[in-house]
Amino acid sequence: MLNTDIERVLVPQKEIAQIVKNLGKQITNDFAGEELVVVCILKGSSIFFSDLVREIDLDMKFDFMVLSSYGNGTTTTREIKIVKDLTEDIKDKNVLVVEDIIDSGRTIKSLKELLEKREPKCLKIVTMLNKPDRREVDIVTDYNGKVIPDEFVVGYGLDYAQNYRNLKDICVLSPSVYSK
Ligand code: IMP
Ligand code: MG
Repeated sequence: MLNTDIERVLVPQKEIAQIVKNLGKQITNDFAGEELVVVCILKGSSIFFSDLVREIDLDMKFDFMVLSSYGNGTTTTREIKIVKDLTEDIKDKNVLVVEDIIDSGRTIKSLKELLEKREPKCLKIVTMLNKPDRREVDIVTDYNGKVIPDEFVVGYGLDYAQNYRNLKDICVLSPSVYSK
């Protein structure tokens, strides 16, 4: 049952909407007169992406990527693997990558390095959530929705074992779920 699996709501739907609106305004102002390629990192960013693009008043194209991160088994170093790549050529384009959450920072750091090699005009990162307490690498995000404490959250696209993505609020999962 969805409801009994949730310990508490961390970011309610109304607050999410306000955050997304503000991010959209900032991005619209910063890129005035420019065109964007907005990149959705599937699956976690899908809902945030869908809301955010409608708060950005600029010409844009959508693109989608699927990434998977994996360890090499002996160290904590993780690299990302592209499961599905972009379809747009981003050379000389303004690229905005939309992430759900920055945790260790490793995913977004290696993605940034990978996309920079394709020589975009500019590459910016927007994340809905940020957990700075968990950061393992130096990473600058250009647009930040909300800083949250070191707790595992689900909803608004975020999952635990692929579930709970459809919750309207961002919620802390009940510990009983992990011990099932
Ligand atoms: P990073 O490389 O450690 O920054 O990993 C970021 C990815 O881990 C995110 O894109 C999420 O898929 C996942 N992740 C990190 N924290 C959470 C969380 O609290 N809930 C759900 N997914 C999370
Ligand atoms: Mg993700």
